[in-house]
Amino acid sequence: MHLFFSKKDLALGIVLGVVIGLVLGYVVSTRDIDDLKSQISNLQSQIEQIRELIPPLRTLAEENGILIGSAVTASYLTEAPYAQTLSREFDILTTENALKFEPVHPSRDQYTFGDADAIVSFAEANGMKVRGHTLVWHQQLPGWITQGTFTREEWKTILHDHITTVVSRYKRRIYAWDVVNEAIDDDGSLRNTVWLQGIGPEYIRLAFEWAHEADPQALLFYNDYGASGSGVKSDAVYNLVKNLTESGVPINGVGLQMHISLESPPVFGDIAANFERLNDLGLEVQVTELDVRLRTPATTEDLTQQANIYRNMLEVCLSADNCTAFVMWGFTDKYSWIPAANPGYGSALIFDESYNPKSAYFALISVLAERSNQD
Ligand code: XIL
Repeated sequence: MHLFFSKKDLALGIVLGVVIGLVLGYVVSTRDIDDLKSQISNLQSQIEQIRELIPPLRTLAEENGILIGSAVTASYLTEAPYAQTLSREFDILTTENALKFEPVHPSRDQYTFGDADAIVSFAEANGMKVRGHTLVWHQQLPGWITQGTFTREEWKTILHDHITTVVSRYKRRIYAWDVVNEAIDDDGSLRNTVWLQGIGPEYIRLAFEWAHEADPQALLFYNDYGASGSGVKSDAVYNLVKNLTESGVPINGVGLQMHISLESPPVFGDIAANFERLNDLGLEVQVTELDVRLRTPATTEDLTQQANIYRNMLEVCLSADNCTAFVMWGFTDKYSWIPAANPGYGSALIFDESYNPKSAYFALISVLAERSNQD
């Protein structure tokens, strides 16, 4: 039989067909990809527009009568997204390390206030309050204190000078102080610190009195971890502040650190009950160092559970008559003490490392917005 096409023509035809097919396929798929790209960018701009409609945390918190804040480090304030996120979202800042004894008072005759000054100025420029952290603690102490051998009178003079100098410098500018931090041990006894050894148990009362003398307007807090719900330590903190209050010591409230792990979430009912008994003493409570750590890398499920813990804790604060501030120990996972302090853990805050809000952020927004709408 005579063939119109030779085998060679046929082969050429097949090759040509395949080439045309590939080219057409390429054109179509590039068009698909371009379509997809433009859809994604439309979605992104819609998300941006929606985010602009969501009021910042501080606006909603103010409507609900509480302050909302974060611990900060002075050197990051020059990083634009760090400073912008802070000033947009929060109305109270805590000096994370700047006012601890070692950085602020490294030798007996030397005070270094640069970092704290920068934080306080930033706060003032952005209409924010400041929590001063912390006047008396057993950690982050300079060598001249940890290795010092002084008489009881000398220890009193040292602590008096320290508190007077630091509090006076920021008189009327720092709104609240963590006067004494972590003075109760996990078993409920007074922690054996240089201050207890040097001065005796009355160092606590003296610290509050000296802080009050230096700035009578400042709110003065006792701050601790593991004391938010029920238990031996919580009872010990309660008894301590009850005694202080009943003996007329100038104390305004209790700061609850709340470094929470996803693996052992708090019992929120116990926390609410504790807030209430402190309220009965006439004391404020503030959540002072909240973070919710999880094993990294975080799963979506982890982040949802984390958001629920943030949500529930804020609910407890808003439902209590005496909870006046909700402060987190940082706000971006880019800068958090967790990975260094708890290897294998992280992702504990409400913005990710690129300053994108996480589920926990939206959980806080939704609690505040719901309650704003109820009013
Ligand atoms: C942490 C800081 O976040 C770290 O940068 C520092 O290296 C150690 O201290 N309880 C407190 C805080 O009261 O001062 C601690 O802050 C975290 C635990």
